[in-house]
Amino acid sequence: MATLIKGGLLITAERSFPADILVEGGKISQIGQNLQSANADQVDATGKLILPGGVDPHVHLDLPMFGTVSSDDHYTGTKAAAYGGTTTVIDFVSFDFPSLGESVEKWQAKAEKAAVDYSAHMNLTRFDDKIAAEIPSLRDTGITTLKVFTAYNNRLRIDDGNIFKTLRIARNNGILVMLHAENGDVIEMLTTEALAAGHTTPEWHAKTRPAWGAVESALRAFALAAMAETSLYLVHMNTAGEVDMLKYAREHGVKVMGETCPQYLFFSEDDLRRPDGAKWVCSPPVRTSVDNAQLWKGAMDGTIQTIATDHCPFFYDGTKPILYEGKPVAIPGKELGTQDFTRIPNGVPGVEDRLPVIWTTGVGSGKLTPSQFVALTSTNPAKIFGLYPRKGALLPGSDADIVIFDPRKKVTYGIVHCHQRTDYNLYEGWDLTGYPEKVFLRGQLIVDGDMWLGKRGGGEFLKRNQGGIL
Ligand code: URP
Ligand code: ZN
Ligand code: ZN
Repeated sequence: MATLIKGGLLITAERSFPADILVEGGKISQIGQNLQSANADQVDATGKLILPGGVDPHVHLDLPMFGTVSSDDHYTGTKAAAYGGTTTVIDFVSFDFPSLGESVEKWQAKAEKAAVDYSAHMNLTRFDDKIAAEIPSLRDTGITTLKVFTAYNNRLRIDDGNIFKTLRIARNNGILVMLHAENGDVIEMLTTEALAAGHTTPEWHAKTRPAWGAVESALRAFALAAMAETSLYLVHMNTAGEVDMLKYAREHGVKVMGETCPQYLFFSEDDLRRPDGAKWVCSPPVRTSVDNAQLWKGAMDGTIQTIATDHCPFFYDGTKPILYEGKPVAIPGKELGTQDFTRIPNGVPGVEDRLPVIWTTGVGSGKLTPSQFVALTSTNPAKIFGLYPRKGALLPGSDADIVIFDPRKKVTYGIVHCHQRTDYNLYEGWDLTGYPEKVFLRGQLIVDGDMWLGKRGGGEFLKRNQGGIL
């Protein structure tokens, strides 16, 4: 089935230009003026923008933690992604089985219900010679990225020497290392002290995970990457100091890149002090308005390459069911930490919110050009994570992952509007201008206004190539 999208304004990471797009066999076959095709379905996009489908390189679907599980699975989370204009997500494989390969296989079995295209990064949360020897084989599975942690002592963290070894193995095998930067030792000590002093409220989540820990461990890892002569990608940047460190390292020729997420651009410890502050508990924590402003600046001036989401939703009150696709669903959530901030499941929803919220606050406010918006949310992640030009591009030969975006549509945003499987939205009541109208995945219309036309299992696993360095 062919589709001809006529009369829209194409937005790419480089420029905006009016053109028609012909889609055949799930791919973009032609881009040009006055295209004709006798047997194609014609879609009138006059007055609309045509964007490449969003690429969200950081989501956690069906992730067991804190005695519960993130409340979007690979179907519900990717359906929500599609409604928000995102057609590719990259999840994480937990290293829960003896080998990396087995962990990937178990993840594959859960992920195949995805409704948009998907891949995963491997969490490297243990390290020994056997594991080191297995890392190169990840490439054969199509996974070309590893995430390491300088926090979560005795759970996810590996030590600096093993991070250095990992960086060297990654360099020799076309693999990119991603870093979660916080200081695990300091967090452990401050948390013990806070609990002993009887501090139980959500703001203590931030107070026990100080910004300086993120700053110093980001610089430490950039230095390790420099010494290992390889690149590194800093996930979920949340502090002004990380932007400074990233700039410093890049200016000194270290091939490091960074990602921030909407929650770090808008929210602060003030939100954690609200009566419903648990809604904002994520790791790393939200910081201050100074950090928000510096992260925006980093995204605007090109220091930061991507805006992802770290989508990891939990219910605010998991004792009360919501209706999802007509059926009641309740999943234990933030209420688990009512008496103790360390028991609040860490994470926030956002995969659906990202494009509309960043369009209004970024492009609508003049902070970002439309091309920067596309670069940060689609093209750059596709390039960095080895998916370009199949994804993140409006080019002949690219997958026809296309968003017809109405730049004038006004929406009062919030939970009633949303498809993320949780009971709250961080942007409740925000007035947005600009919203996805139709979303195509490999040429199939999967979202048409409010209508869901996609399907469980409609997504394809993406074997990724070695990514690029931006
Ligand atoms: O709070 C968050 N972000 N949970 C997900 C885990 C992580 O470190 O990204
Ligand atoms: Zn992390
Ligand atoms: Zn994450």
